[in-house]
Amino acid sequence: MINSFNEISILKPDDWHLHLRDGKILKGVVSYTANVFSRAIIMPNLDPPITTLNSAKEYKKRIIQAIPKGASFTPLMTAYLTDDMSPEVLERGFKEGIFYGAKLYPVNVTTNSSYGVTDLNKIDNLFETMERIGMPLLIHGEVSDLDVDVFDREAVFIERHLEPLLRRFSSLRVVLEHITTIDAIDFVENSKSNIAATITPHHLHINRNAMFLGGLRSDFYCLPTAKREIHRIALRKAATSGKACFFLGTDSAPHTRKFKESSCGCAGIFNAPFALESYLKVFEEENALSRFEAFASINGANFYGLPLNIEKISLVKKDIFVPKSINVGLEGDPNDSVKPFHSGEILGWSIAAN
Ligand code: NCD
Ligand code: ZN
Repeated sequence: MINSFNEISILKPDDWHLHLRDGKILKGVVSYTANVFSRAIIMPNLDPPITTLNSAKEYKKRIIQAIPKGASFTPLMTAYLTDDMSPEVLERGFKEGIFYGAKLYPVNVTTNSSYGVTDLNKIDNLFETMERIGMPLLIHGEVSDLDVDVFDREAVFIERHLEPLLRRFSSLRVVLEHITTIDAIDFVENSKSNIAATITPHHLHINRNAMFLGGLRSDFYCLPTAKREIHRIALRKAATSGKACFFLGTDSAPHTRKFKESSCGCAGIFNAPFALESYLKVFEEENALSRFEAFASINGANFYGLPLNIEKISLVKKDIFVPKSINVGLEGDPNDSVKPFHSGEILGWSIAAN
């Protein structure tokens, strides 16, 4: 609900795509999400990845232990698909509420994906099970073939792999994660209601030029990479359209300075600290504040078949300064801080105190 042009109050949002990592950094990053969002789909790309019921349960416990006191936040765990994952594990995990979905990383496509699937046809037994039980398949939709231009990898994935997959399993429930292209938007919009997509804040704010502004800027390097401006504009229209097939998924992916400032820097943008404010700026600029709640708090829950949150959150029109860097608890070494998305900028919306 928009109370006025200066305040907006919505059901508490959920983040349908989040990397929390593990160990010390988990404790350092989880509060940014847990203090604002009610639930989040937790990506399983640890090293080694989450492939068993036990590792998911243990990881969930570690996340819950790291949540600050007073925050009510539920991590929704996912399984990492491998060539030899058993369908029984997936089915049991989904039916027992341990897994809310399974993540498909084509092998070597992104951070910690060396355990990923080498050929989609090899895991038809898993797709068959997931289709039968209604378990969401979350896809990093890029090919990893080095002969495909990095900016074409999403479009090529859709044509080469996703369309054939959905011809084989037409009722499979699929979330195409962090979409970056008009091709992906068209694909999702022209599909049945079993296909949806998450959209990140960074892909709504930057195009690929951000990576090359006056030098090589690894802080804007993520996968899939941002694309041309026409794609960014189309993504803003899609996210703010109110359509049920598009919902919030930050893909917040923290990497400390030493892994970003490297001759072979890691892909990933840490946007969790100001994610909601960042999205809201886009909705305001697109004159779509009245559709923010659908994107942030309704469409995702509906797609996953989960109840809507009951609590509310308000944002007010008030400048907020995004710090240049954030200490994530790896004390002692300045190379171990993380730079948040919008670092050093002022955003025009702030979360209202309760
Ligand atoms: C993610 C990460 O660092 O885990 N990186 C990214 O650029 N988005 C992995 C992923 O979602 O691709
Ligand atoms: Zn991700």
